[in-house]
Amino acid sequence: MRPFANRRIVLGVTGGIASYKSASLARLLTKAGAEVDVVMTAAAREFVGPVTFEALTGRPVYTALIAAGHALDHIALARAAHAIVVAPATADFMARSAHGHADDLLTACLLAADAPILLAPAMNDRMWAHRQTARNVSHLRDLGYHVLEPETGDLAAGEGQGPGRMPEPETIFAHVGRLLDGDGLLRGRRLVVTAGPTREPVDPVRFLSNRSSGKMGVALAAAGWRRGADVTLIAGPLAVAPPVGVTVVPVETTADMAAAVAAHLPGADVLVMAAAPADFRPAAVAAQKIKKDAAPDAIPLVATEDVLVATRSLRPPGTIVVGFALETQAALAGGRAKLRRKALDMVVVNDATEPGAGFMSDTNRVSLLVGDAEPEELPVLDKADVADAILDRVEGLMRGR
Ligand code: CTP
Repeated sequence: MRPFANRRIVLGVTGGIASYKSASLARLLTKAGAEVDVVMTAAAREFVGPVTFEALTGRPVYTALIAAGHALDHIALARAAHAIVVAPATADFMARSAHGHADDLLTACLLAADAPILLAPAMNDRMWAHRQTARNVSHLRDLGYHVLEPETGDLAAGEGQGPGRMPEPETIFAHVGRLLDGDGLLRGRRLVVTAGPTREPVDPVRFLSNRSSGKMGVALAAAGWRRGADVTLIAGPLAVAPPVGVTVVPVETTADMAAAVAAHLPGADVLVMAAAPADFRPAAVAAQKIKKDAAPDAIPLVATEDVLVATRSLRPPGTIVVGFALETQAALAGGRAKLRRKALDMVVVNDATEPGAGFMSDTNRVSLLVGDAEPEELPVLDKADVADAILDRVEGLMRGR
């Protein structure tokens, strides 16, 4: 799971209380495989020591515009970077950058850079609301800088609840990913992903469901957004948080999921059905809680609608449709049958009984079936990597169209 391997990122840290959170961001970027060059302003060093970032990135931290023998650090750093992210970006830093200052290493890097630049503002809510800051932000955006909206929440020193908080490191990390990878074939394409189980009510307090966690669908939605797509995630109850940037449409039953998919399919370029919709529902839902002493001997079930089959007449021409096949025996044959019956472009086959595969796991071992071609059998991989492998094949299909 090293999506940023071979990528160099300059992480600028300016002097705000949120700079302690940048340590987590440095760690996330480094874990994702990036070489992270941290550049700290003098004010940032009042809040966090360079040694913290050195330990997390395994690389020297840059602090001065002119250090002995390194007078042109800013040019070299800026030119090597695939992306520059400044987190936190204080009001003062944004004002100086908006006016083209180059009086410290970080502002100089920004001026010397060709790479995309992302700023994560953090400041007091009154400072954020000031027209001067708004003007600086709008000017920076005109220059092509990506400026995130700060979050609303507790501000430092009991200053209330206005917008001004730095977005969480995970959020900034996701945006860096889209800066790095958002320029490929999926850029601007509409991707609809389903995830998780559905729940079929028995009575007002009970339901039938399955063990799906939603992790695979969430990984696909995250990877699609990173690649620049406009992503809608139609999700049953998830065991994990939905990804940054995607529009989530929460659903409960298989019928709800079928309706949401039908509503979002027009205009979609790609549909990936990673959900595990319940295949059966109770024939009748009791209006009141079924009491213990009235326990039924059996609950009659009826089949739910097959969401994918129902989309066959609704698919806009050219839509790429990917389904999953969850099997416990003869997995590849089962996958091939679903490829035909559900008229799919690709089936992702997994065997729920294999170690390292299936519902609750963070990993999966799948085979990809496309048309009559030989299956592409992947090793056990993290679900994020499985998602990337699936989207690589989707992009291959798009190229062929
Ligand atoms: N699927 C669907 N609607 C359902 C059930 C499943 O659209 N009611 C989708 C799943 O999201 C998946 C694919 O169909 O992409 C295959 O799901 P799977 O559970 O493997 O197969 P089923 O069609 O349910 O068939 P079976 O249970 O007989 O294996």
